[in-house]
Amino acid sequence: MYKIGIILGTRPEIIKMSPVIRELTTKNFFLIHTNQHYSENMDKIFFEELNLKKPDYNLNIGSGSHGDQTGRMLMEIEKVLLKEKPDFVLVQGDTNTVLAGALAASKLGIKIGHIEAGLRSFDRKMPEETNRVLTDHISEFLFAPTKTAANNILKEGISDEKIHIVGNTIVDATIQNLKIAEKNEKVCKFISKITKNEKYFLLTLHRAENTDNFEILSKLVTSINNISKKYGKNIIFPIHPRTHKKLNEFGLINALENNPLIKIIEPVGYLEFLGLEKNAELIITDSGGLQEEACILNVPCVTLRENTERPETLDVNSNILAGSDPENILNCVEKMLKSNRHWNNPFGDGNSGKIIVNIVFGEKKP
Ligand code: UD1
Ligand code: UDP
Repeated sequence: MYKIGIILGTRPEIIKMSPVIRELTTKNFFLIHTNQHYSENMDKIFFEELNLKKPDYNLNIGSGSHGDQTGRMLMEIEKVLLKEKPDFVLVQGDTNTVLAGALAASKLGIKIGHIEAGLRSFDRKMPEETNRVLTDHISEFLFAPTKTAANNILKEGISDEKIHIVGNTIVDATIQNLKIAEKNEKVCKFISKITKNEKYFLLTLHRAENTDNFEILSKLVTSINNISKKYGKNIIFPIHPRTHKKLNEFGLINALENNPLIKIIEPVGYLEFLGLEKNAELIITDSGGLQEEACILNVPCVTLRENTERPETLDVNSNILAGSDPENILNCVEKMLKSNRHWNNPFGDGNSGKIIVNIVFGEKKP
């Protein structure tokens, strides 16, 4: 029986792979979790909330430098693939887990399907850009979310036959889980408690180029304080562990903690987070997934980056690139608060998981 190996390791991969895993329920598949993310609220909470089966293999890789982390993943994933001998491996996104999974499969001659293929920031300083480019070029099936993404890889010489425009599974995940979140009493109570039913902005930050550079992180801290002062609004900030660590290391955490309008909380589950996004006046972020979700949920987004691999969100005016300059960030916030919130979602209709699984199995000649 045709066998699929799913490889994932971080919060966004668990969320974006969940619609595919659901479609695979009746098929022969196994799940490898590298455990690149391992803190309970970055990992286990998503398996529970999204009702996913436990990973068949948990590789316990955890954190490390790029080479150390990716290298250990490569070694451990190879062992599992040699044992399981899948016909096909699926990876999603652009993390080190994705590169290690794809590379391990490629060297063993196993076909790879890359979900979210073709995204490009054209910024090679981003570790994710290297992961995207390399994974795309060793995949047989490139599941591009949009025509823009498909065009990027066509221009790199990847054959049209390998590219399938399927939308983004984040639309499936958002639609499926928002319904659940809105009916869940515990989630609704949590949101009321955190927001006090007042208007607020939602903030996340974790991109290496922002968190690991003192000057940039200082400017972002100043900007966050400026925004809260100008608008007098609460800014809810579920903080990524990387960012928490870096703010402490650089001695910047007090500048945020001393501001009563900035509500720093631990990362939350997906249902809680979707509720926080849906009800926010504005999302301020450097996350890839949040740029998409904000667009899907019709919440304006200010992206604290110089570039984005999600230009579709700029095209429909759901998002703006603000960089790290405090004055520019304030101008972008003002501009997005005035936006009319009526744009079309360019990422598909919520059936990407089904389409991907159909393509993977259609490929198998009976
Ligand atoms: C990774 C991905 C990034 C993705 C993000 C999603 C790479 C190169 N980066 O970044 O593309 O957007 O995941 O959130 O693959 N940590 C914990 N607990 C955890 C996980 C991380 O405390 O469960 C802390 C550790 O101090 C660790 C740091 O966060 O050193 C960074 O973790 P890492 O997985 O290397 O990268 P992310 O910043 O999470
Ligand atoms: N998310 C969550 N809880 C949080 C913050 C984010 O469930 O406290 C979800 C969010 O809805 C999105 C995903 O995590 O689907 C984005 O992950 P992240 O920003 O870490 O990674 P990126 O998308 O930038 O790779």
